[in-house]
Amino acid sequence: MSHFKRNLITTALPYANGPVHIGHLAGVYVPADIYVRYLRAKGEEVVFIGGSDEHGVPITIKAQKEGVTPQDIVDRYHNLIKKSFEEFGISFDIYSRTTSKTHHELSSAFFKKLYQEGKFIEKTSMQYYDEKAGQFLADRYITGKCPHCGNERAYGDQCEACGTSLSATDLINPVSAITGNTPQLKETKHWYLPLDQYENWLKEWILEGHKEWKSNVYGQCKSWLDNGLQPRAVTRDLDWGVPVPIEGAEGKVLYVWFDAPIGYISATKDLTPDWEKYWKDKDTRMIHFIGKDNIVFHCIIFPAMLKAEGSYILPDNVPANEFLNLEGDKISTSRNWAVWLHEYLEDFKGKQDVLRYVLTANAPETKDNDFTWKDFQTRNNSELVAIYGNFVNRAIVLTHKYFGGLVPERGALNDYDREVLAEIPAIIDRVEKNLENFHFREALKECMNLARLGNKYLADTEPWKLIKTDEARVKTILNICLQITADLTALSEPFMPFSAAKLRGFLNMEPLVWSKMGAEVLPAGHRINEAGLLFDKIEDEEIQRQLDRLQATKKANELANVKAAPAKENITFDTFQQLDIRAGKIIAAEKVAKTKKLMKLTVDTGIDQRTVVSGIAEYYTPEEVIGKQVSILVNLEPRNLKGIDSQGMILMAENADGSLAFVSPEKDVMPGSEIR
Ligand code: MF3
Ligand code: ZN
Repeated sequence: MSHFKRNLITTALPYANGPVHIGHLAGVYVPADIYVRYLRAKGEEVVFIGGSDEHGVPITIKAQKEGVTPQDIVDRYHNLIKKSFEEFGISFDIYSRTTSKTHHELSSAFFKKLYQEGKFIEKTSMQYYDEKAGQFLADRYITGKCPHCGNERAYGDQCEACGTSLSATDLINPVSAITGNTPQLKETKHWYLPLDQYENWLKEWILEGHKEWKSNVYGQCKSWLDNGLQPRAVTRDLDWGVPVPIEGAEGKVLYVWFDAPIGYISATKDLTPDWEKYWKDKDTRMIHFIGKDNIVFHCIIFPAMLKAEGSYILPDNVPANEFLNLEGDKISTSRNWAVWLHEYLEDFKGKQDVLRYVLTANAPETKDNDFTWKDFQTRNNSELVAIYGNFVNRAIVLTHKYFGGLVPERGALNDYDREVLAEIPAIIDRVEKNLENFHFREALKECMNLARLGNKYLADTEPWKLIKTDEARVKTILNICLQITADLTALSEPFMPFSAAKLRGFLNMEPLVWSKMGAEVLPAGHRINEAGLLFDKIEDEEIQRQLDRLQATKKANELANVKAAPAKENITFDTFQQLDIRAGKIIAAEKVAKTKKLMKLTVDTGIDQRTVVSGIAEYYTPEEVIGKQVSILVNLEPRNLKGIDSQGMILMAENADGSLAFVSPEKDVMPGSEIR
């Protein structure tokens, strides 16, 4: 399929500061795994590399928040992430981590080599320093007022209120997030990779040499290159990371985006002593699977690093995906707007393939895409269950019913049989072409077309009607159906490995070599097993539960986001004393006809019993409020509301979402008690 001898497939190393979610799976790991499984099925030599990215500021911030060490954080999430990938069948040859000894040594040596060969430039700049903490502050560690919108809590790299990206020195009244002190500007030295010196070479290599890259990837590269490249700092003042291996660089580490991609190399080294043949031999084809936010690092910066180093190969392709949204909103770890993989498996036990299927069918290959639970249900019920599952189940059940579970002999073929059989290699061919071009959605659609073909063939030929009159014909039909089923075990394996393995079990067969598809794999007389369950229907209630959970998250976020209204102007104590507020008891209540919000209340104020109209009907029923102790402003000028004289006002606390709650004395008091 290509002139390369072997394949080195890498997947972006997820940050070990949170669990992984469907966005990770859809954008990077499922497509990469499909590709790798396909290559293996074709007998290609391949290594499949993954690992956790365990450095960087977000990890230190999280550690500080929780009062634990960064190592505690990365240990926790590395293990969780690794387990999630295993459970979803992501078939890494190694899942490594950037805190490993190999990685520290290798990335350190990589830096040192570039340093010694004069590939960096040194620059000093002014950066915020926290005297009290005795350290320089990463941008994320500084907050202050946004110069654009006035938000008081903007970060040194970005204002999340108006979305502007900032430098720490843009902030008005900067404050250190560590000590709360005002940081001071202090001189610091760093090493920069002069990307500008690689610009022409990159233009040649990408814009001329890799016109075949996906248009989203090529386009982003072109725009970076057209805008001109600047030197990039590859070190940071931080105490978590790979120490800069130079004298006088104490307290400095390699920038996380410098060491992380080198993690691909160290992982390969951890996997095999023969790692250099993957990284230093032009006959190796390297492919990076990533999400779109990683394009510049994998197409421009890392290649420039590799080029500077000189002994490594460059990627042949970087099939980056766009983003997956969830029910119309951007997936967000901090807002908990995600479907977490470990949680999915609690709710949908054994349904790894359903998620793999839906995420592939709906993959954000060319544009951002939306994951919805409704679509998830529909694709499961009307594609996996109704087509794939239904077809193989009928083929197997009928074979047991008519032929005692033995594969029947294929007799003379008619035109329709020939047409159907001829379609099989055509489908396989289209699956291959699409996979080789990283068109996973199309490839999956074609794979399902094989199940569709079988399903239709069975429905058209109706062997259950022929069995009484033409047993020979039924034998041929079922033979062909079983053939298609056997082909499905191989064709669907890259996409749905768990189901493919189950199906092989039903058919009592060994893994089918890719090149054997389309041939008569199951000989006449071969005994198959009973059919088990491949896919089952997902009910509305299960989907509703997921939607309810998201709704609750949304609500919680809204509440967390609302800022309290600013305080009003000061008033005098005398003014305050003019308010006559009493404890009262509601003794009768009814909704005001033809209104949504209003309720007519009779309140015992201790002074009298009076009528008050209150806007609480959306939040309380009359039955609920009778007997409640409330606070009532009794000297408010009476007002006429919907024809009712309202004498006074019940005090309510208004929640961020507009919902109301009574302000009641904390223990029972006499009606008429003054509140002041
Ligand atoms: N941790 C980065 C992210 O999640 C990806 C790192 S990819 C690597 O965006 F190449 F640096 F490893
Ligand atoms: Zn702002």
